[in-house]
Amino acid sequence: MVKTAIYYFSSTGNSLAVARDLARGLDNADIIPINSSLDAPDASFYERVGFVFPIYMFGLPLIVRSFLGKIEIKPETYVFSVATFGGLPGRALSMAGEILKKRGIELACGFSVQMPGNYTPLYGAIPRKQQDKIFLRQKIKTQKIIELVCQQAAGVMEENPFLLNLALYLLLYRAGSSRIPLSARRGFWSTEACTKCGLCAKICPVGNIQLQGGRPFWLLHCQHCMGCLQWCPAQAIEYRNFTRGKGRYHHPEIQALDLITRP
Ligand SMILES: Cc1cc2nc3c(=O)[nH]c(=O)nc-3n(C[C@H](O)[C@H](O)[C@H](O)COP(=O)(O)O)c2cc1C
Repeated sequence: MVKTAIYYFSSTGNSLAVARDLARGLDNADIIPINSSLDAPDASFYERVGFVFPIYMFGLPLIVRSFLGKIEIKPETYVFSVATFGGLPGRALSMAGEILKKRGIELACGFSVQMPGNYTPLYGAIPRKQQDKIFLRQKIKTQKIIELVCQQAAGVMEENPFLLNLALYLLLYRAGSSRIPLSARRGFWSTEACTKCGLCAKICPVGNIQLQGGRPFWLLHCQHCMGCLQWCPAQAIEYRNFTRGKGRYHHPEIQALDLITRP
């Protein structure tokens, strides 16, 4: 039986839910979180490797970018990626392909799966009925991905191929992602509703939150994943004034504990 590794990055559970569905369909698969504790990732033991991650600003989350740049994979390994996105997939998949190619690894297929969006500074959570419709489509899509991966399909790249779009996405990505660390330090804050439970610090995939007097203080390696804000049980975390009164989101089948992946 083919041994598969599925590496995932997820803050509100969409990518984890997809990774779990893939693992169930591919048998013999290990699911491994991408977080700041995975220093020298080694997948040379696996014959098939998949990456599941959300799209950020039409591109790759910073942590996924650096992860792809250092993971060890044997050249003959079958490699695929699945990007989850809220509305506009951008060019994260081809970015992943380019990074791997420079290291002599071929990305055979890149798939996109639409999920409820989680970028609260722009919009609140969509109603549960609408979410359920998306989840239904996701299950069907994931099944198709499993079939293609089992056939070792190649050449699928599910993103808009028009050059102008790609150039525009790249510009937006560069402008947005370079500002993330500082804008997070300045942007996130906790309100008086904070109960000092510390969940925000535990759930942060990169350990970017320090508790000071029990309350969160944001350091400088934020990924902008919104995990702290989305999972706060008291809804006491805001990003500037853009998130006030907006509904929080996380995947209904995923618990906060599932996303606490650092020791
Ligand atoms: C910082 C940030 C940027 C995002 N940018 C995009 C985007 O460019 N296009 C898009 O369709 N969705 C975007 N989203 C939405 C997520 O890609 C989507 O909700 C994803 O499924 C979340 O996955 P997760 O729950 O595994 O973290 C963004 C979300 C965040 C937090």
